[in-house]
Amino acid sequence: MMVRTATAPERFRDRVIKRGAQLVISPFHIHRHTRLWDNPDGFDPTRWDKGRARGPYLPFSAGPRICTGAGFAMVEGVVLIAMLIRAYRFELITGHPPPRPVAHLTLRAAEGIWLRVTQR
Ligand code: HEM
Repeated sequence: MMVRTATAPERFRDRVIKRGAQLVISPFHIHRHTRLWDNPDGFDPTRWDKGRARGPYLPFSAGPRICTGAGFAMVEGVVLIAMLIRAYRFELITGHPPPRPVAHLTLRAAEGIWLRVTQR
């Protein structure tokens, strides 16, 4: 989540926002908003490729305080996954309930994601 402070009074739908109020922005909810996405809860990484994703896609925030490490993180993630997949085989351990997302500042699976990891 990201927090912003209102620098001026504002109206947000039917709510009055006072100057100095703190607003919490949840990318998790914006990324799953039923008015923005056709299949909001589906696992569909290609959804971000669509042109309209630019506005409502904000994993790294937006504006002047956007994550300065965004470019690095996107490369780092791909390199890490490529190295792990090259060295290990990952299989889903069946019998566990599907991952339940929980927010602890960042998002994670409440009971973890159970995988069998074997060396290739
Ligand atoms: C997948 C990985 C990452 C995600 C999802 C992420 C996400 C974010 C988000 C959402 C913000 C903005 C917070 C806000 O607006 O209140 C932020 C800020 C920031 N991030 Fe990242 N980040 C990631 C990786 C990194 C890395 C690798 C670095 C540094 C090498 C980094 C450095 C920073 C810095 C310095 C800020 C503060 C920018 C400012 O306030 O002006 N981040 N990040």
